[in-house]
Amino acid sequence: MPIPKPNYTPPFNITRASHAVLHVKDLAKSRAFYVDLIGFIVSDEDTDALYLRGVAEACHHSLVLKRGSEPRAECVGMRCFSEDDLDKAKFYFDKAQLPALWVERPHQGRTLRVNDALGAPLEFCATMERKPRLVVSFKDHHGAVPQRIDHFQLLVPDVQHELEFYTDLGFRLSEYIAADGADTPHFVFLQRKGNPHDIVFAPGAGPRLHHAAFSIPESYLFFYVCDLAAQMGFAENVEFGPGRHGPGHALFVYMRDPDGHRIELFNTHYQCMDIDDEPVRWDTSYVGKRNWQLPARAMWFSEASRFAGVEPREPGKKGAPMTLEKYVAAE
Ligand SMILES: [Fe+2]
Repeated sequence: MPIPKPNYTPPFNITRASHAVLHVKDLAKSRAFYVDLIGFIVSDEDTDALYLRGVAEACHHSLVLKRGSEPRAECVGMRCFSEDDLDKAKFYFDKAQLPALWVERPHQGRTLRVNDALGAPLEFCATMERKPRLVVSFKDHHGAVPQRIDHFQLLVPDVQHELEFYTDLGFRLSEYIAADGADTPHFVFLQRKGNPHDIVFAPGAGPRLHHAAFSIPESYLFFYVCDLAAQMGFAENVEFGPGRHGPGHALFVYMRDPDGHRIELFNTHYQCMDIDDEPVRWDTSYVGKRNWQLPARAMWFSEASRFAGVEPREPGKKGAPMTLEKYVAAE
């Protein structure tokens, strides 16, 4: 399959990944993880929901935790530039026979809800209630000092389909992983905001939310937050890393929250926004060698949060990633 050409004149202007909405079973446990350990700022909370933001964010929330009977992802949120773009989005999706509905969301402006080409729930807004940006309010910083949301990663049964759908919406391919000697991408990194990722698609039963990623400012904080996790009873929640990515080059650590939802803390993304920026291609065999960290456990590849009301579909062809278990068995 060819890599689609970028669409420089998209039907409406999406500016960035905005927020994730997760259902959790026990808000107090979630608060201990996200606020006391990771260091998110609480913008609002009540008995049914917790609205969180990073210290560099002036928007009301980039992570919403809602009390629910099952751990589910409700949707991933994107920002559009203007109200006009939301109207254009409504027109575009309706024409594409993907019914888009206006929905009420606390602390957000007008919000449009739609399922993407493979059924992943998305919501778009152009405005959100404003809150103080606490980036230089050091007394408010603790844990890993999450700065801002950066991207989502979804597992999907047809990566090529999503690549084409999101390219039509104006997303640009920054990096991709393809089988050695072929040009069929099976792991794609797409962006709108000018750094390598806003949304990433990897092969797997889905659509399911693999992780939401938040940037942190300093590399020592990867180790500090892991130390803190161990002391606070969250040692088992550290899933993978600290390590360094191939695609994107960032340092990372993946953690599972008390409901099993996965977040990534990462740093140092580069910028890519020029018209002549070409996607970076990675051979599967090269990525498999990683950098200096051991491979991820099998669970990192296969486990993800189901979207509420969306039945995952298996991919036609199952991958065979190098897992920690395989690596150890081969030694
Ligand atoms: Fe990520």
